[in-house]
Amino acid sequence: MADQNSVESMSLAINGAKESAMSAIKNTADLAGLRALSADLNKKDSPLNSFKSEMGKLSSVDDKRSIGQLLNAAAGEIAAALETRTREFADNEIAARIEQESLDLTEFLVQRRRGHSHIVTQATQRLEDVFIGLGFQIAEGPEVETDFHNFEALNMPKSHPARSEFDTMFLEYGEPNSVLLRTHTSPVQIRVMKTWKPPIYAIMPGRVFRRDTPDATHMPVFHQIEGLVIDRGITFAHLAGTIEAFTKAFFGNEFTSRLRPSFFPFTEPSAEFDIRRADGEWIELGGCGMVHPNVLISGGIDPEEFSGFAFGFGIDRMAKERHKVEDIREMYTNDLRFLRQF
Ligand code: FA5
Repeated sequence: MADQNSVESMSLAINGAKESAMSAIKNTADLAGLRALSADLNKKDSPLNSFKSEMGKLSSVDDKRSIGQLLNAAAGEIAAALETRTREFADNEIAARIEQESLDLTEFLVQRRRGHSHIVTQATQRLEDVFIGLGFQIAEGPEVETDFHNFEALNMPKSHPARSEFDTMFLEYGEPNSVLLRTHTSPVQIRVMKTWKPPIYAIMPGRVFRRDTPDATHMPVFHQIEGLVIDRGITFAHLAGTIEAFTKAFFGNEFTSRLRPSFFPFTEPSAEFDIRRADGEWIELGGCGMVHPNVLISGGIDPEEFSGFAFGFGIDRMAKERHKVEDIREMYTNDLRFLRQF
């Protein structure tokens, strides 16, 4: 009878221990908590395991068997519950990690960015538009030039001191120092004079090369736009008027221009062209002047019949001034954060 009582009370206690283990499993918050709980439940002196030694004290074989079966069933249920809960936590953890680490590629699809022209290309196109509006046509010449077109035909024979102002890069081609990377766009004047008939109203944009050390206003590779007008009765007043009209059209009405006496072998008289910014500072943008009679002759044009003016501006410096860029080198670092601003 005593055994019967203890079998019943043991069964109740085993079920109670199982239920509390099951609810503890259900209430664990994470995998670490579950692992700790599992270790506790498997300890030798855990409530359920302690019944195993209790069971040994029962005298009846049947009682031992029924308590043994009950304990096994309880242990089986607890093990199954632990496994299910472990899998739940593992699944949640994986789902959370996938969510956290996944790349949202739709962002790129929705915000696809189109590229645009470089700031110097934009300035060149704008310059072309302004001059086309003033009645000019566009011409181009080669970047690899002959000494003849770059210097000689522009009234700078071999011994001319002004040649040293252009730090020239020569190519190892033909006679020594006879082929070079053009130092300015002025050689295109000669090519245009030789192939077009006056009246000529031409602009010639392009890339030029000098052995200049890069600084805030200089690059060894930069861009110029050359202008050439050849017609009957062209005077310095036409040159000054064209430059002022261009300044206002390109930079805006708050800018104004001035011409300072200067010297170029290919123009006479010659001037330096400056613009004045809204803050009052003057910036040198290029050279200009009346085409020298020797240059007209080199181009096959009769200086008795025709006269003309020419100018050559630095496009990079114009872009720099128009967009208030501090340092010309910034335009060539290819930093997208800089380039996207324009
Ligand atoms: C000339 O190159 C002459 N061919 C201009 C000319 C044409 C005069 C027709 C008369 C008639 P200059 O060396 O000053 O001139 O250069 C003209 C402009 O190019 C300069 O005012 C400046 O705006 C720009 N420039 C010159 N060197 C550099 C450089 N290293 N980097 C960026 N811009 C430059």
